[in-house]
Amino acid sequence: MVDLESLFKLSYGMCVVSSKKKDSINGCIVNTVFQIVPEPPMVAASINRNCLTHDYITESKVFAVSVLSQQAPMSFIRRFGFRSGGDFDKFRKVNYKLGQTGAPILLDNTVAFLEAQVTESVDVVTHTLFIANIVACQMLNESAEPMTYAYYRDIKQGKTPKTAATYINLEKNRKKE
Ligand SMILES: Cc1cc2nc3c(=O)[nH]c(=O)nc-3n(C[C@H](O)[C@H](O)[C@H](O)COP(=O)(O)O)c2cc1C
Repeated sequence: MVDLESLFKLSYGMCVVSSKKKDSINGCIVNTVFQIVPEPPMVAASINRNCLTHDYITESKVFAVSVLSQQAPMSFIRRFGFRSGGDFDKFRKVNYKLGQTGAPILLDNTVAFLEAQVTESVDVVTHTLFIANIVACQMLNESAEPMTYAYYRDIKQGKTPKTAATYINLEKNRKKE
């Protein structure tokens, strides 16, 4: 049996992964950032090849991860998770700073951030797994609770687009049962 809904029981955190390309910056919601090695500290992120952020990371070989707090409003998640930076400037009127890699770090709705330098890119069907060394990381708001993917789905009643690494077609999955 392959009941894909069981995959909702895996835990993830909600982040904005951002990067740069020459003078431009962009970022998108990603729930598949995870630490893979303790020493040196390394992370991986699974990014869809159709996302503009993928193009930026491929070009610059750097990315930042802003870990979202539970307070992040749905309008903020829609802005970064359901629209492409190809159509508009997602960082316009958003409070951010450029990190030491040049990638933008969100200052509102963010618990902590990290910056990373890509060491390896692994093609996985529709996505690329970017493997990277952490070159900087800092707490921004220690008292705020990070938003988990379960919180986003169950409490905020948030949806997930097809481009996401953890997208599940519920209708197709239920028909199979
Ligand atoms: C809850 C949620 C989780 C997401 N997780 C991922 C992910 O892990 N990887 C990914 O490539 N896209 C993910 N996305 C989708 C991107 O954020 C979305 O395709 C975005 O519009 C891409 O923007 P861009 O083209 O400006 O990079 C997720 C979106 C949401 C709302």
